[in-house]
Amino acid sequence: MTAPPQNPNRYLENSVQDLLSLKGRTVVITGAARGLGLAFALAVVEVGGNVAVLDAAEKPHEHYYKIQKQFPDSKLEYYRTDVTKYDVLKASFDSVVKDFGRIDGLVTAAGICPDEPFIERAPESVARCMNINVLGTYYAAQLAAAQMDKQEPTDFNPRGGSIVFIASIAAHVASKGQTTSDYCASKGAVVSLAKALGVELAGKGIRVNSISPGYMVTDMTLELCDKYPWLGDIMQNEPPMRRMGDRTDLKVPVVYLLSNASAYHTSDDILITGGIHAGRLL
Ligand SMILES: NC(=O)c1ccc[n+]([C@@H]2O[C@H](COP(=O)([O-])OP(=O)(O)OC[C@H]3O[C@@H](n4cnc5c(N)ncnc54)[C@H](O)[C@@H]3O)[C@@H](O)[C@H]2O)c1
Repeated sequence: MTAPPQNPNRYLENSVQDLLSLKGRTVVITGAARGLGLAFALAVVEVGGNVAVLDAAEKPHEHYYKIQKQFPDSKLEYYRTDVTKYDVLKASFDSVVKDFGRIDGLVTAAGICPDEPFIERAPESVARCMNINVLGTYYAAQLAAAQMDKQEPTDFNPRGGSIVFIASIAAHVASKGQTTSDYCASKGAVVSLAKALGVELAGKGIRVNSISPGYMVTDMTLELCDKYPWLGDIMQNEPPMRRMGDRTDLKVPVVYLLSNASAYHTSDDILITGGIHAGRLL
């Protein structure tokens, strides 16, 4: 057997704090005007990173401005765009590279979740969901990977980068009490895309993973629960841990996947669901 080329004592020199640091790195986060994406933006700046928020909303949630004020040493910029329009999205990525100089990480949180019975679905509505959730993820990953591949190495990021897709528990099990056929299919596509890209891009030093959250408290789920009150009961009481997830529960997993702490972790999907992927109570 030939000896492995690595220094076997490296673990003595890399502290957990150092491994989780994103100091100097630029992370693009789609769909971060609010919701999960905005919590990821906060998590990234908390560990020293810079964030470019790409979203279709006219302006971000008021918390965005609070975060910007609270972390003056990090750069946090907002770009209004549309992940379904390749040319528009490419122009936004070009602006990010011009403003930040590089892209070290990408998180794709832009997504929608229509709830309509399968047989009644209009083709335009299905196409919109697929365009945002699948093509929007695909295009953003392609644009980020192209930049990661061509940029110069730095101390804080010698090569490549990390891409994190936000998939869903809906990729793994049908959503009880909801009729979300296209959403489930779109998230299945996202999980598969992470696996395929993790393999294809490994040689370029680019890692690709997805996170599949269960029911999380955000504006998206609160709006759904307002519209369909029985859903609140399902989301709150059926996870084995007997609560909905909080955005706090996803901050460290996203930082982990973006950072050197996960340097050997690619082509995976991480389920953070309070156990609901394994079984439901009630
Ligand atoms: N909240 C949950 O319980 C939950 C669970 C599993 C997965 N997810 C997934 O996490 C992601 C974020 O969900 P959320 O709850 O934060 O939703 P949200 O509605 O609060 O945020 C989604 C963001 O995406 C943006 N967006 C929509 N279409 C866009 C487009 N064409 N171009 C650019 N931006 C666009 C919206 O403006 C919004 O700011 C989604 O992909 C969702 O499917 C959410």
